[in-house]
Amino acid sequence: RFSTTFADVGGMDELKEEIRLKIIYPLQYPDLYKAYGRSTGGGILIYGPPGCGKTLLLRAVAGEVPCNYLSVGLHEIFDPYFGGTEGNLHQIFETARANAPCVLVFDDVDSLAQDRRSVRESQMRNLVNQFLHEMDGLRDNQRVLVIGATNQPWQLDPAFRRPGRFDQAIFVRPPDDAARAQIIVLQARDKPISNLDVPALVEATAGFSGADIEWVFGRAAEMTLSAAIHSGHAVPIPMELLLTVARSHTPSTQNWFDGMRDHATQAAPDGFFNEVRKYLNAPSTKER
Ligand SMILES: Nc1ncnc2c1ncn2[C@@H]1O[C@H](COP(=O)(O)OP(=O)(O)OP(=O)(O)O)[C@@H](O)[C@H]1O
Ligand SMILES: [Mg+2]
Repeated sequence: RFSTTFADVGGMDELKEEIRLKIIYPLQYPDLYKAYGRSTGGGILIYGPPGCGKTLLLRAVAGEVPCNYLSVGLHEIFDPYFGGTEGNLHQIFETARANAPCVLVFDDVDSLAQDRRSVRESQMRNLVNQFLHEMDGLRDNQRVLVIGATNQPWQLDPAFRRPGRFDQAIFVRPPDDAARAQIIVLQARDKPISNLDVPALVEATAGFSGADIEWVFGRAAEMTLSAAIHSGHAVPIPMELLLTVARSHTPSTQNWFDGMRDHATQAAPDGFFNEVRKYLNAPSTKER
Protein backbone atom coordinates (compact mmCIF):
# COMPACT_ATOMS: atom_id res chain seq x y z
CA ARG A 1 0.00 0.00 0.00
CA PHE A 2 2.91 2.41 0.70
CA SER A 3 5.92 2.33 -1.56
CA THR A 4 8.55 3.89 0.74
CA THR A 5 10.18 1.51 3.22
CA PHE A 6 13.22 1.50 5.52
CA ALA A 7 15.27 0.31 2.52
CA ASP A 8 14.88 3.79 1.01
CA VAL A 9 16.38 5.43 4.08
CA GLY A 10 20.18 5.38 4.26
CA GLY A 11 21.82 4.65 7.62
CA MET A 12 19.83 5.04 10.86
CA ASP A 13 20.17 1.34 11.68
CA GLU A 14 19.81 1.85 15.42
CA LEU A 15 16.89 4.17 14.89
CA LYS A 16 15.11 1.72 12.61
CA GLU A 17 15.52 -1.03 15.21
CA GLU A 18 14.24 1.32 17.91
CA ILE A 19 11.14 1.96 15.84
CA ARG A 20 10.64 -1.75 15.25
CA LEU A 21 10.99 -2.32 18.97
CA LYS A 22 8.53 0.43 19.81
CA ILE A 23 5.98 -0.03 17.05
CA ILE A 24 6.34 -3.09 14.90
CA TYR A 25 7.22 -5.83 17.39
CA PRO A 26 4.61 -4.69 19.96
CA LEU A 27 1.97 -5.11 17.29
CA GLN A 28 3.34 -8.46 16.17
CA TYR A 29 3.86 -9.83 19.68
CA PRO A 30 1.41 -8.05 22.02
CA ASP A 31 1.33 -10.95 24.48
CA LEU A 32 5.10 -11.01 24.78
CA TYR A 33 5.15 -7.30 25.50
CA LYS A 34 2.47 -7.75 28.12
CA ALA A 35 4.39 -10.60 29.72
CA TYR A 36 7.44 -8.38 30.10
CA GLY A 37 5.36 -5.52 31.40
CA ARG A 38 6.07 -3.26 28.44
CA SER A 39 3.24 -1.06 27.28
CA THR A 40 2.72 -0.66 23.58
CA GLY A 41 1.50 2.91 23.09
CA GLY A 42 3.11 6.19 23.98
CA GLY A 43 5.10 8.84 22.23
CA ILE A 44 8.42 9.18 20.46
CA LEU A 45 9.93 12.48 19.41
CA ILE A 46 12.42 12.42 16.58
CA TYR A 47 14.58 15.48 16.18
CA GLY A 48 17.69 16.61 14.36
CA PRO A 49 19.06 19.03 11.78
CA PRO A 50 17.07 19.78 8.62
CA GLY A 51 17.43 17.51 5.62
CA CYS A 52 18.67 14.44 7.49
CA GLY A 53 15.72 12.20 6.72
CA LYS A 54 13.11 12.67 9.47
CA THR A 55 10.22 13.14 7.05
CA LEU A 56 11.55 10.39 4.80
CA LEU A 57 11.77 8.03 7.77
CA LEU A 58 8.21 8.84 8.86
CA ARG A 59 7.00 8.05 5.37
CA ALA A 60 8.92 4.77 5.49
CA VAL A 61 7.27 3.90 8.82
CA ALA A 62 3.98 3.89 6.91
CA GLY A 63 5.40 1.26 4.59
CA GLU A 64 6.76 -0.85 7.47
CA VAL A 65 4.09 -0.99 10.14
CA PRO A 66 1.49 -3.75 10.00
CA CYS A 67 -1.27 -1.46 11.28
CA ASN A 68 -3.13 1.77 10.60
CA TYR A 69 -1.13 4.90 9.97
CA LEU A 70 -2.44 8.43 10.29
CA SER A 71 -0.28 11.42 9.41
CA VAL A 72 -1.60 14.84 10.37
CA GLY A 73 -0.26 18.33 9.71
CA LEU A 74 -1.04 20.52 12.70
CA HIS A 75 -1.21 23.52 10.39
CA GLU A 76 -4.09 21.79 8.59
CA ILE A 77 -6.28 21.59 11.69
CA PHE A 78 -6.07 25.24 12.73
CA ASP A 79 -9.54 26.72 13.04
CA PRO A 80 -10.06 30.43 13.72
CA TYR A 81 -13.18 29.78 15.80
CA PHE A 82 -12.83 29.50 19.55
CA GLY A 83 -12.11 25.92 20.54
CA GLY A 84 -12.23 24.71 16.95
CA THR A 85 -8.61 23.64 16.73
CA GLU A 86 -8.76 21.72 20.01
CA GLY A 87 -11.92 20.00 18.83
CA ASN A 88 -10.20 18.99 15.59
CA LEU A 89 -7.23 17.63 17.50
CA HIS A 90 -9.52 15.65 19.77
CA GLN A 91 -11.23 14.17 16.71
CA ILE A 92 -7.88 13.03 15.32
CA PHE A 93 -6.94 11.23 18.53
CA GLU A 94 -10.44 9.70 18.64
CA THR A 95 -9.97 8.40 15.10
CA ALA A 96 -6.59 6.93 16.04
CA ARG A 97 -8.08 5.23 19.12
CA ALA A 98 -10.98 3.87 17.12
CA ASN A 99 -8.53 2.43 14.60
CA ALA A 100 -6.02 1.03 17.07
CA PRO A 101 -3.48 -0.34 16.69
CA CYS A 102 -2.48 2.85 14.98
CA VAL A 103 0.56 5.03 14.44
CA LEU A 104 -0.28 8.72 14.64
CA VAL A 105 2.33 10.99 13.07
CA PHE A 106 2.83 14.73 13.51
CA ASP A 107 5.69 15.83 11.30
CA ASP A 108 5.53 19.45 12.43
CA VAL A 109 5.30 19.51 16.22
CA ASP A 110 7.32 22.75 16.17
CA SER A 111 4.12 24.48 15.23
CA LEU A 112 3.09 23.83 18.84
CA ALA A 113 5.91 26.12 19.94
CA GLN A 114 4.88 29.16 21.89
CA ASP A 115 4.98 32.49 20.15
CA ARG A 116 5.06 34.91 23.04
CA ARG A 117 5.12 37.97 20.82
CA SER A 118 1.76 37.42 19.24
CA VAL A 119 -1.87 37.45 20.29
CA ARG A 120 -1.96 33.81 19.30
CA GLU A 121 -0.19 32.87 22.51
CA SER A 122 -3.28 32.02 24.54
CA GLN A 123 -4.79 30.09 21.62
CA MET A 124 -1.51 28.17 21.40
CA ARG A 125 -1.59 27.46 25.11
CA ASN A 126 -5.02 25.88 24.70
CA LEU A 127 -3.84 23.72 21.84
CA VAL A 128 -0.74 22.60 23.73
CA ASN A 129 -2.88 21.72 26.76
CA GLN A 130 -5.26 19.76 24.58
CA PHE A 131 -2.35 17.89 23.01
CA LEU A 132 -0.92 17.03 26.44
CA HIS A 133 -4.35 15.93 27.60
CA GLU A 134 -4.82 13.65 24.59
CA MET A 135 -1.40 12.08 25.08
CA ASP A 136 -2.17 11.43 28.76
CA GLY A 137 -5.37 9.75 27.62
CA LEU A 138 -3.32 7.26 25.62
CA ARG A 139 -1.51 6.01 28.67
CA ASP A 140 -3.86 3.13 29.45
CA ASN A 141 -2.43 0.91 26.78
CA GLN A 142 -4.62 2.05 23.95
CA ARG A 143 -2.16 0.84 21.35
CA VAL A 144 -1.77 4.20 19.70
CA LEU A 145 1.79 5.28 19.14
CA VAL A 146 2.37 8.98 18.53
CA ILE A 147 5.49 10.02 16.64
CA GLY A 148 6.38 13.68 16.47
CA ALA A 149 9.20 15.20 14.45
CA THR A 150 10.93 18.55 14.74
CA ASN A 151 14.14 20.33 13.86
CA GLN A 152 13.64 22.77 16.74
CA PRO A 153 13.30 20.49 19.75
CA TRP A 154 14.31 23.24 22.17
CA GLN A 155 11.14 25.15 21.22
CA LEU A 156 8.89 22.42 22.50
CA ASP A 157 7.19 22.86 25.88
CA PRO A 158 9.13 20.73 28.41
CA ALA A 159 5.77 19.37 29.60
CA PHE A 160 5.82 17.20 26.47
CA ARG A 161 8.81 15.32 27.82
CA ARG A 162 7.09 13.98 30.93
CA PRO A 163 6.61 10.24 31.27
CA GLY A 164 3.75 8.91 29.21
CA ARG A 165 4.02 11.69 26.66
CA PHE A 166 7.02 12.06 24.32
CA ASP A 167 9.09 10.24 26.88
CA GLN A 168 11.56 9.03 24.33
CA ALA A 169 13.59 11.28 22.10
CA ILE A 170 15.57 9.98 19.17
CA PHE A 171 18.29 12.05 17.59
CA VAL A 172 18.49 11.79 13.81
CA ARG A 173 22.09 12.72 13.19
CA PRO A 174 23.76 13.66 9.90
CA PRO A 175 24.69 10.52 7.96
CA ASP A 176 28.07 8.97 8.81
CA ASP A 177 30.35 7.50 6.11
CA ALA A 178 28.43 4.24 5.77
CA ALA A 179 25.07 6.03 5.66
CA ARG A 180 26.31 8.51 3.06
CA ALA A 181 27.49 5.62 0.92
CA GLN A 182 23.96 4.22 1.04
CA ILE A 183 22.38 7.59 0.25
CA ILE A 184 24.79 8.07 -2.68
CA VAL A 185 23.85 4.68 -4.10
CA LEU A 186 20.15 5.52 -3.66
CA GLN A 187 20.64 8.85 -5.43
CA ALA A 188 22.64 7.31 -8.28
CA ARG A 189 20.09 4.55 -8.77
CA ASP A 190 18.04 6.21 -11.50
CA LYS A 191 20.66 8.47 -13.11
CA PRO A 192 23.25 7.86 -15.85
CA ILE A 193 26.66 8.35 -14.24
CA SER A 194 30.05 7.50 -15.68
CA ASN A 195 32.27 5.44 -13.33
CA LEU A 196 30.51 6.16 -10.06
CA ASP A 197 33.17 6.25 -7.35
CA VAL A 198 31.26 5.90 -4.08
CA PRO A 199 34.23 6.15 -1.67
CA ALA A 200 35.47 9.37 -3.32
CA LEU A 201 32.02 10.93 -2.98
CA VAL A 202 31.70 9.75 0.61
CA GLU A 203 34.90 11.62 1.35
CA ALA A 204 33.82 14.76 -0.53
CA THR A 205 30.49 14.89 1.34
CA ALA A 206 31.69 14.76 4.97
CA GLY A 207 29.22 16.66 7.16
CA PHE A 208 26.55 16.73 4.44
CA SER A 209 22.90 15.99 5.14
CA GLY A 210 20.96 13.62 2.90
CA ALA A 211 19.31 16.67 1.37
CA ASP A 212 22.77 18.15 0.63
CA ILE A 213 23.74 14.95 -1.19
CA GLU A 214 20.48 15.01 -3.13
CA TRP A 215 21.26 18.61 -4.10
CA VAL A 216 24.73 17.64 -5.41
CA PHE A 217 23.25 14.98 -7.70
CA GLY A 218 20.52 17.34 -8.86
CA ARG A 219 22.94 20.14 -9.60
CA ALA A 220 25.38 17.90 -11.50
CA ALA A 221 22.50 16.41 -13.50
CA GLU A 222 21.27 19.88 -14.39
CA MET A 223 24.72 21.00 -15.57
CA THR A 224 25.16 17.86 -17.67
CA LEU A 225 21.70 18.31 -19.15
CA SER A 226 22.47 21.89 -20.08
CA ALA A 227 25.70 20.80 -21.79
CA ALA A 228 23.80 18.05 -23.64
CA ILE A 229 21.26 20.53 -24.96
CA HIS A 230 23.94 22.87 -26.23
CA SER A 231 26.18 20.18 -27.76
CA GLY A 232 23.28 18.16 -29.17
CA HIS A 233 24.36 14.82 -27.71
CA ALA A 234 23.58 13.26 -24.35
CA VAL A 235 26.43 12.13 -22.12
CA PRO A 236 26.36 10.51 -18.66
CA ILE A 237 27.04 12.71 -15.63
CA PRO A 238 30.84 12.78 -15.26
CA MET A 239 32.12 11.55 -11.90
CA GLU A 240 34.54 14.50 -11.81
CA LEU A 241 31.62 16.91 -12.00
CA LEU A 242 29.91 15.28 -9.00
CA LEU A 243 33.10 15.70 -6.99
CA THR A 244 33.55 19.33 -8.08
CA VAL A 245 29.97 20.21 -7.17
CA ALA A 246 30.28 18.43 -3.80
CA ARG A 247 33.54 20.18 -2.94
CA SER A 248 32.06 23.61 -3.65
CA HIS A 249 28.99 23.01 -1.45
CA THR A 250 28.89 24.00 2.22
CA PRO A 251 27.07 21.46 4.41
CA SER A 252 23.77 22.88 5.61
CA THR A 253 23.77 21.28 9.07
CA GLN A 254 26.51 23.48 10.57
CA ASN A 255 24.19 26.34 11.60
CA TRP A 256 21.84 23.94 13.32
CA PHE A 257 24.63 22.50 15.45
CA ASP A 258 25.89 25.97 16.33
CA GLY A 259 22.41 26.79 17.64
CA MET A 260 21.96 23.42 19.29
CA ARG A 261 25.24 23.73 21.19
CA ASP A 262 23.65 26.43 23.38
CA HIS A 263 20.16 24.98 23.53
CA ALA A 264 21.27 21.44 24.33
CA THR A 265 22.95 22.58 27.51
CA GLN A 266 20.55 25.33 28.59
CA ALA A 267 17.11 24.25 27.49
CA ALA A 268 17.06 20.67 28.66
CA PRO A 269 18.97 19.95 31.84
CA ASP A 270 16.91 16.78 32.26
CA GLY A 271 19.09 14.83 29.86
CA PHE A 272 16.57 14.86 27.04
CA PHE A 273 19.18 15.94 24.50
CA ASN A 274 21.96 13.70 25.78
CA GLU A 275 22.41 12.10 22.39
CA VAL A 276 23.17 15.48 20.81
CA ARG A 277 25.58 16.33 23.57
CA LYS A 278 27.42 13.06 23.08
CA TYR A 279 27.53 13.65 19.34
CA LEU A 280 28.86 17.19 19.75
CA ASN A 281 31.55 16.01 22.16
CA ALA A 282 32.72 13.14 19.96
CA PRO A 283 36.27 13.78 18.70
CA SER A 284 35.27 13.33 15.04
CA THR A 285 32.62 16.06 15.38
CA LYS A 286 34.85 18.51 17.22
CA GLU A 287 37.40 18.50 14.42
CA ARG A 288 34.96 20.16 12.04
N1 LIG B 1 19.02 9.06 5.43
C1 LIG B 1 18.60 9.39 4.19
N2 LIG B 1 18.50 8.43 3.24
C2 LIG B 1 18.10 8.73 1.99
N3 LIG B 1 17.77 9.98 1.60
C3 LIG B 1 17.85 10.97 2.48
C4 LIG B 1 18.26 10.73 3.84
N4 LIG B 1 18.23 11.90 4.51
C5 LIG B 1 17.81 12.82 3.63
N5 LIG B 1 17.59 12.28 2.41
C6 LIG B 1 17.15 13.00 1.20
O1 LIG B 1 16.92 14.34 1.55
C7 LIG B 1 15.54 14.70 1.40
C8 LIG B 1 15.10 15.57 2.53
O2 LIG B 1 15.03 14.83 3.74
P1 LIG B 1 13.82 15.00 4.77
O3 LIG B 1 12.77 15.86 4.19
O4 LIG B 1 13.42 13.66 5.24
O5 LIG B 1 14.57 15.80 5.92
P2 LIG B 1 14.01 16.26 7.35
O6 LIG B 1 14.93 15.67 8.37
O7 LIG B 1 12.56 15.94 7.46
O8 LIG B 1 14.25 17.84 7.30
P3 LIG B 1 13.40 19.00 8.01
O9 LIG B 1 13.92 19.09 9.43
O10 LIG B 1 13.79 20.21 7.22
O11 LIG B 1 11.95 18.66 7.94
C9 LIG B 1 14.81 13.37 1.33
O12 LIG B 1 13.64 13.47 0.57
C10 LIG B 1 15.82 12.45 0.70
O13 LIG B 1 15.81 12.57 -0.70
MG1 LIG C 1 10.85 17.11 7.62
